[in-house]
Amino acid sequence: MNVLEAINARQSIRAYESRPVEPEKLEAVLSAANRAASAANLQAYHISVVRDDARKLALVAAAAGQKFLAGAPVVLVFAVDPARSAAKYGPRGEQIYCMQDACAAVCNAMLAAVELGLGACWVDAVFEDLAGKAVGLPPGLRAAVILPLGYPAEQPPRTSRRALSDLVTHL
Ligand SMILES: Cc1cc2nc3c(=O)[nH]c(=O)nc-3n(C[C@H](O)[C@H](O)[C@H](O)COP(=O)(O)O)c2cc1C
Repeated sequence: MNVLEAINARQSIRAYESRPVEPEKLEAVLSAANRAASAANLQAYHISVVRDDARKLALVAAAAGQKFLAGAPVVLVFAVDPARSAAKYGPRGEQIYCMQDACAAVCNAMLAAVELGLGACWVDAVFEDLAGKAVGLPPGLRAAVILPLGYPAEQPPRTSRRALSDLVTHL
């Protein structure tokens, strides 16, 4: 599968088989996240890998009750590290770049998952303090994105998109 094929095949997957994700596949997803672009290569984020049920349930609460994420064998929590970015970029790093770094890493992880036959769904950590507590984040780190990961147990209909002409201007 090439990159364009992975981009086109990716869909949000919200139901997962119970079979575990092989450690080498998990490692490949994490390594893909780690290769993402980031402002000044600072990689101002942290990834927590969650496998235990109690933490998953706490993450469900942090995501405003989105129960499906607890059905994934592995749940990744991407947290931003504002201070790491702020040290170089000040408020812009603190407010924007750390989030952009984390989001770029999430996108890489999702595409790697597709290549490996896995499914994932970007879930917003609605209550970031609850999510942070669930994974024991140190002070200063803020949970941003929850990414359940597992073998798909559904094939959802393909979502639509805006027309390119609606969102692109050729100058
Ligand atoms: C910033 C962001 C937040 C999202 N939050 C959630 C969420 O909390 N729960 C959920 O089920 N999906 C969430 N999604 C997934 C979107 O619903 C999904 O990407 C969109 O409907 C397009 O569908 P597709 O991913 O299958 O192409 C989120 C996606 C993004 C980028």
